[in-house]
Amino acid sequence: MRTRTQVGIVGAGPSGLLLSHLLHLQGVASVIVENRSRDYVEHRVRAGVLEQAAVDLLKEAGVGERMVREGLVHNGIELRFGGRGHRIDFPSLTGGRAITVYGQQEVVKDLIAARLAAGGEIVFEAADVGVHGIDTDTPLIRYRKDGSEHEVSCAIVAGCDGFHGVCRQAIPDHAQHVFERTYPFAWLGILAQAAPSHEELIYAYHDRGFALFSMRSPEITRLYLQVAPDEDIADWPDERIWQELHTRLETDDGWRLNEGPVLEKGITPMRSFVCEKMQHGRLFLAGDAAHIVPPTGAKGMNLAVADIHVLTRALTAFFKSGRGDLLATYDATCLKRVWRAEHFSWWMTSMLHRFPDDDGFQQRLQRSQLDYTVGSRAAAASLAENYVGLPFA
Ligand code: FAD
Ligand code: DHB
Repeated sequence: MRTRTQVGIVGAGPSGLLLSHLLHLQGVASVIVENRSRDYVEHRVRAGVLEQAAVDLLKEAGVGERMVREGLVHNGIELRFGGRGHRIDFPSLTGGRAITVYGQQEVVKDLIAARLAAGGEIVFEAADVGVHGIDTDTPLIRYRKDGSEHEVSCAIVAGCDGFHGVCRQAIPDHAQHVFERTYPFAWLGILAQAAPSHEELIYAYHDRGFALFSMRSPEITRLYLQVAPDEDIADWPDERIWQELHTRLETDDGWRLNEGPVLEKGITPMRSFVCEKMQHGRLFLAGDAAHIVPPTGAKGMNLAVADIHVLTRALTAFFKSGRGDLLATYDATCLKRVWRAEHFSWWMTSMLHRFPDDDGFQQRLQRSQLDYTVGSRAAAASLAENYVGLPFA
């Protein structure tokens, strides 16, 4: 069975769904091919922080109504170390900008609803997805579903299939240059049915390792702990997780973390990764398919949104005016922002985590950097400006 469209999109994560929606608003047709079920992608718990520019884009695109209603606008974060909290105030340091806490899976639900309401086509549970002919003007996405073979024939393929997807592999090795760093730790994350016991996010630096306090709603707390990269989740019963969180988040003034039933838990590896060549022939990569940041600083989903903003503009110029210039410079445009976020995420990660082979040198540098960051307006402004996010290209 063969379908024809203008843009064939692989992956129904934030990147693929947002691209399909924005293209639709520009009158450009697309089909999304996703290997998981709708229920699975709508309930995959991941990122939670949206930069100001991402919030503005979702609102302008008409998919921000629930985000505005249910999202939590935060005007700062706390850096917690030495038993005390130190607040970084965003609006006063960034000319009035802020962030919004709204779960990635909620963004995904809103985008799926918008696509389906507009008659958009999303193929869920597609098996053996592959991209073909990206060096020609008529590339294809092939997949199997319900026992039969399917083909989406298109003019452009958008690889929005995340880090483990198939699209990046379609770029020949000689045409791509990959940069990668892994970190000697991972994050254990939980979602708990507990009212947040602090109004803003807390990034805690502690001798036993990093901890992060976040939230999803007035009833749900999201928490993370630095653990070993090969940690087995089975070794972390709920009581051990809570005990460790209490220890790492403790303050001298007796602040208490609220506990509640653990609804979800998982371990996320930490990696920096950039594929330089986000495009090859008629294939364009976006989001995690092209780059990964360690989660400290919450840049992953925001980078995906920024890529899609650039790609939509380039594809609209291509389909509506026959202009290829913006497509030709797509990856150069994206990579500037990508490398800024790569640096910021690496910097936040390096400042806040305990390194296993440290003889105390790194810890002293970290403590000096933390003191400087909360003590100098210039240093605090640099963190704040990167955290709320630089403007889209
Ligand atoms: P994805 O969300 O990965 O979407 C890719 C989609 O493609 C998925 O739906 C996938 O099922 C589909 N797909 C994959 N392979 C194929 C295939 N062969 N065929 C068809 N479809 C395919 N960022 C933060 O800022 N904070 C966090 O706390 C955080 N936690 C994370 C936890 C985990 C476990 C992971 C993996 C990422 C996390 N991130 C976090 C990063 C953030 O979630 C990503 O940057 C964001 O999801 C990128 O969106 P995307 O659409 O590019 O990729
Ligand atoms: C969350 C995740 C992050 O990586 C981060 O830096 C802040 C918040 C979250 O899931 O809420």
